[in-house]
Amino acid sequence: MLFSRSDKSPSSPSNRSKGVLGDSPGLVPKIVPIEPIVSPLNLPQVTDIELQRYADLIYRRTGVRISPQKKTLLSNRLRRRLKETGIRTYSDYYEYLTKLPPNHPEWDAFLQEITTHETYLFRDEVQWRWFREKFLPEMAATQAGPIKTLRIWSAACSTGDEAFTAACCIAAALPDFRSWRITILGTDIGVAAVEQAKTAVFGERAMRLVPEDYKKRFFDKIPNAMVWRAKPILTGMTQFRQHNLMEPLRERPFDLVFLKNVLIYFDNASKQVVVKNVLNVLRPNGYLVVGPAEGVGDLLRNMRRSQPWLYQKEPEQVTPAATSPAGSLLGATEPRR
Ligand SMILES: C[S@@+](CC[C@H](N)C(=O)[O-])C[C@H]1O[C@@H](n2cnc3c(N)ncnc32)[C@H](O)[C@@H]1O
Repeated sequence: MLFSRSDKSPSSPSNRSKGVLGDSPGLVPKIVPIEPIVSPLNLPQVTDIELQRYADLIYRRTGVRISPQKKTLLSNRLRRRLKETGIRTYSDYYEYLTKLPPNHPEWDAFLQEITTHETYLFRDEVQWRWFREKFLPEMAATQAGPIKTLRIWSAACSTGDEAFTAACCIAAALPDFRSWRITILGTDIGVAAVEQAKTAVFGERAMRLVPEDYKKRFFDKIPNAMVWRAKPILTGMTQFRQHNLMEPLRERPFDLVFLKNVLIYFDNASKQVVVKNVLNVLRPNGYLVVGPAEGVGDLLRNMRRSQPWLYQKEPEQVTPAATSPAGSLLGATEPRR
């Protein structure tokens, strides 16, 4: 049996007290039997079959592989959803979830439990040094027109820390950035993570590596709280929306994509889908920055690798007319993927 949040489950406090002491008249209260109290917190771990069903469900939805070693972790995380929803068994919760439309908030709550959201500003400092000292000057030097553009995608952005780090570096390193057309898009499968990113508010832990002068220039400290809010100078460059990396992103090409600390949980087949989707929106000569343990080197063999974490897409290739299909007189140009 399933219970929505507002339902009274048989083990809810009000029902329990009635069950223990009935309303019978007389001096000695009559003890009436009650259903045994089953708290989700007392449930044993998921069975092997349940683990397999949930693992398949998570894989189909996100590309993330849950290994059998994650049994305890999955059980702990599921118990939290059972407690929240008032559902009493893992199987009932599975039936409940799989009948919901994909955009139902319970799907997001479930995915939030089983995915890792760890992130902070200026994570992997060496990459941000490259971003400030090499990438931004190159972008500034290679654009001749009156309006310079810069398009960055923080794929799997969690609460937006990577996107705001890029915005900080741009505001600090490009003196004329206000005259640029800048887009920093952050996307994540988690709706709650994206909503949090939109608030542009960061706690002490997320801010711990932000240089002091950047903190002063680009963030407002919220009084009586250990949190900072990004100033409009940063929020003006950033935008966030929900997106599953297993699906193509409908966007114009980006100059740089961050794809960090997400594919470590994917199997090879899912990694291939994600890499294809990402490279489809990376412009020729554009850069891809991956996490230190992303495990995608084999899938990026067609790109130039200058660091274990830094790849550059090949320039667009012009196919010579003589070798183009059917000897086209137009000399077809084919982007090489
Ligand atoms: C550990 S965080 C990484 C955040 C940031 N990129 C960083 O390195 O600090 C991983 C994020 O990947 C997201 N994620 C997992 N599967 C995803 C998918 N299929 N599509 C988009 N995002 C996904 C999770 O919701 C989570 O917020």
